[in-house]
Amino acid sequence: MNIRVFDTPSEAGVYAASLIERVLQSQEKPVLGLATGGTVIPFYRWLVEMAKRGLDFSHAVTLNLDEYVGLAPDHPQSYHAFMDQQLFSHINVARENIHVPRGFAPDLEAECDRYDEIIRRNPIDLQVLGIGVNGHIGFNEPNHTLLSHTHVVNLSKETISSNARFFESESEVPRQAITMGVQAILSAKQIVLMAFGDEKAEIIAKAFGGEVRTDIPASMLQLHRDTIIILDQRSASKLE
Ligand code: GLP
Repeated sequence: MNIRVFDTPSEAGVYAASLIERVLQSQEKPVLGLATGGTVIPFYRWLVEMAKRGLDFSHAVTLNLDEYVGLAPDHPQSYHAFMDQQLFSHINVARENIHVPRGFAPDLEAECDRYDEIIRRNPIDLQVLGIGVNGHIGFNEPNHTLLSHTHVVNLSKETISSNARFFESESEVPRQAITMGVQAILSAKQIVLMAFGDEKAEIIAKAFGGEVRTDIPASMLQLHRDTIIILDQRSASKLE
C-alpha cells in the first residue's frame, strides 16, 4: 500500500487522472472501475479536461461500483446520472461499454448475476474508490462478514444520513443499493482510493493505520499488492 498526500483535492485529482491516462495508453482494451461521490468530482473534472485535449476513451470499458435500488438511470440522484453528468457525456467512451448496476431491475438477484458476469469478462485494470465515513467501499457496509460478489445491501443509518446531502431530504434516500463485492474490488490490478477533508481523517487512520477488519471494509485494501491511497493534508492528519 502506497500513501500519497497532496496539498489540495484538485492536485490529487490531477495525479489520479494521470494514472487513468497511463492505463488508457498502455492497454488495448482498458477496463476502468469507477466510483461516485463528492470526492471524485475534481478528478473527473480533470479527466474531462484531458479528454478535451485528446485523451482517448474510445477503446475503454467502464464498470461502476454501485447503484441505488429503485432509481432508473435518468433519475437525477442515480449514480448513472451522476456519471453521465460528471464524465460520460464529456468523453468518447462507447455507450455499450459503459456498465452501471441496474438498480431498477425487476429481478435484483438476476441483475447481480448479470453484473458479475460482466466483471468476469472484463477484469478491472484500475479501480477508483472513495470511502464512506464508516469505512465502506462501494456500498460494502461494515459488517462481521463481507460478501465477495455483487449483491443487494441494506444501507446503514450512517450512510443514509451522510448521502442525504445529495437528495432533497433524508427520507428520499433509497434504503438499499446494489454493490460490487469485495472480491471484484480486490481483483483489480491496481486500486486508487481517494479521500479528502477533516471528516475522513478518523476513518483513514483506522482503515490504513490499524488492523484489517470487516467492520472497516476499506482496511481490506491493505491486503492488495498495488493500492495507492490518495489523501490531502486534512484527511491524512490522523494517520501516524
Ligand atoms: C457513496 C458511494 C461510495 C463513496 C462514498 C463517499 O456512499 N457508494 O462509493 O465512496 O459515497 O462519498 P463522498 O465522496 O461524497 O464522501
